[in-house]
Amino acid sequence: MKTGAENSQMKDTLNRPLRDLRISVTDQCNFRCAYCMPREVFGPDYPFLPKGDILGDDEIVLLARSFARLGIEKIRLTGGEPLLRKDLPDLVGKLAGVEGVEDLSLTTNGVLLPRHARALKEAGLDRINISLDSLNADIFRQMSGGKGDPEAVLKGIEAARAAHLNVKVNMVVKKGVNDQEVLPMVRHFREQRTTLRFIEYMDVGNTNQWRSAEVQSAKELLDTIGREFEFEPVDPNYRGEVAARYRYMDIPVEFGIINSITKPFCSDCNRARLSADGKLFTCLFATAGHDLRAIVREGASEDRLVDHISKIWLQRKDRYSEERSEQSTGKPKIEMSYIGG
Ligand code: GTP
Ligand code: 5AD
Ligand code: SF4
Ligand code: SF4
Repeated sequence: MKTGAENSQMKDTLNRPLRDLRISVTDQCNFRCAYCMPREVFGPDYPFLPKGDILGDDEIVLLARSFARLGIEKIRLTGGEPLLRKDLPDLVGKLAGVEGVEDLSLTTNGVLLPRHARALKEAGLDRINISLDSLNADIFRQMSGGKGDPEAVLKGIEAARAAHLNVKVNMVVKKGVNDQEVLPMVRHFREQRTTLRFIEYMDVGNTNQWRSAEVQSAKELLDTIGREFEFEPVDPNYRGEVAARYRYMDIPVEFGIINSITKPFCSDCNRARLSADGKLFTCLFATAGHDLRAIVREGASEDRLVDHISKIWLQRKDRYSEERSEQSTGKPKIEMSYIGG
């Protein structure tokens, strides 16, 4: 039997439907990006989640099915680094079978893809977004906390392409650190016919010492790219798309900008986030989540979960990026590696 929320299009207090679910499958990562998991904080003593707190595959699938009944069409697996979760292709296979889910994707730092890309594709993954902040090894390591190298990520991108996964590349731009890498990255990924998306450095979590002076704005990024290439804006694919899209005039390749700082997109935000330990967050910048794991582990039925999640969504009023101020950036927030970006 369907609940009331399933029969009507469920909207939050700001009239936003629920469409995307981002599921963090682990809070661990093999990188220590300064903007996400600075190594001074995320050292050997950092209290990562104990194994028993992390949702099992069947618990995730039960929740995904409940979300799908409420309108979720897209699922993105995140982390930490999602490929560190054991047997991820098994989970992908199960999620690919959830009714209503039309788009199943993954966000990764890419270094483990040569080992896993093909199995992920065979399990039913559609798309991958791969993070790469620089092609220069020294600058790359300044961004990644001394871990990995650009060659390893490029091999990961290659492996994903060879497995026929749709690939986009994400580059977080930090002024004074990797902003001189914008044009080399543009040139490289134009040649590769791959969509590159620039992400404005965000004030997520409490550990990255974010300062607005380090944000390379969308306008500055467009000016830089415009010095060498002509481009024009492209209409969004759908309401609530995170990246503003552009197309080069001379070749059929796009790039994007995720401008959460200078042009917030909260008014169309249709995303829910599930942490690896089963908490539901209705905003990337939330301070607290709703514990769904406790209900799942009580043996709750799918109907009860649907009812519970719909009540949370109907009360949602988050619009952090639109309300951002010098005071709000210092407020306690959950870490990006825990909530999954
Ligand atoms: P596509 O479905 O391919 O467009 O992926 P996506 O851009 O939604 O996901 P991805 O994991 O590649 O995220 C790219 C960047 O956008 C990351 O820095 C995310 O933290 C950021 N992002 C995604 N959703 C939101 C959001 O709702 N709010 C904010 N502020 N940032 C977001
Ligand atoms: N600001 C912007 N993007 C970030 N990411 C991680 N931390 C930040 C931050 N502080 C990005 C990663 C990855 C995506 C999931 O989130 O680089 O591309
Ligand atoms: Fe790991 Fe991604 Fe965070 Fe970098 S941004 S530390 S790769 S989770
Ligand atoms: Fe959505 Fe929160 Fe991001 Fe705004 S800041 S777009 S409400 S996740």
